[in-house]
Amino acid sequence: MKLAVVGKGGAGKSVVAGTLARVFARRGDRVLALDSDTMPGLTYSLGVEPAGEPLLQAAAEKNEAGRWRTRKGIGPVRAVQRYAQPAPDGVLLLQSGKTTPEGMAPVMGSVNVFYDVVQRLRRAPYFRDWTIVGDLSAGPRQSAYRWADYADTFLLLAEPTWKSALTARRIARIVRSRGGVTVLLVANKTRNDADAATVGEMVGEPVFGWIPSDPAVVQAERKGVPLLDHAPHSPAARAVEQLAERLSSH
Ligand SMILES: Nc1ncnc2c1ncn2[C@@H]1O[C@H](COP(=O)(O)OP(=O)(O)O)[C@@H](O)[C@H]1O
Ligand SMILES: [Mg+2]
Repeated sequence: MKLAVVGKGGAGKSVVAGTLARVFARRGDRVLALDSDTMPGLTYSLGVEPAGEPLLQAAAEKNEAGRWRTRKGIGPVRAVQRYAQPAPDGVLLLQSGKTTPEGMAPVMGSVNVFYDVVQRLRRAPYFRDWTIVGDLSAGPRQSAYRWADYADTFLLLAEPTWKSALTARRIARIVRSRGGVTVLLVANKTRNDADAATVGEMVGEPVFGWIPSDPAVVQAERKGVPLLDHAPHSPAARAVEQLAERLSSH
């Protein structure tokens, strides 16, 4: 399974991507989590200590023209083996790089290597039977370009609000324009049985799954602890488990 989680900022991409990655790993999959968001999120929902400098920076060098490129001999397999961080349940996490107080400049080497690696993942036989779960930046920009080339399935998250739904609608259109991909709508933060259907109507897509609004998610975030460790039996955690099951049989 090769998934990318997309949606408006705040829709719950990081929580769902991190929890889903660990649920798949617990079910026995080899899982690579890809964090291409320049804002922190996935490290917390997975339960990884945020690294100071992005690890992929070590795989970057500048060419004669002063442009960043990936160092010779580093392909997707070596990049993951050397520079991915171990996360709970055996998940491996590869990160692009986070905004710093000085902006993106200090991490641009890492971002370039990450972008290069994600585009080559798809063709690497080594990862053929791995599960990949990518957490993308908010909005349609990353999905439109080649940050999620590895993905054949896009989990489109939307909350029961018009802003969230209209962004989801745009993202669905942009993602589908690439061709050969499946878009599956997941309604998040639903408050009652009718909410999921409402999200489906607002986005204009059939509802593949839904996750209830759950105070345990907010508490876990406040404590800086992954949902699966803070409240493994909470309604939201259970809903993500069901989502994983449905994705496996899809
Ligand atoms: N099912 C849920 N119930 C309650 N709060 C949620 C739920 N899913 C996400 N949240 C909260 O919504 C906010 C945004 O979630 P996050 O995963 O960071 O979104 P994104 O990565 O899409 O920006 C966080 O404060 C998170 O705790
Ligand atoms: Mg996020």
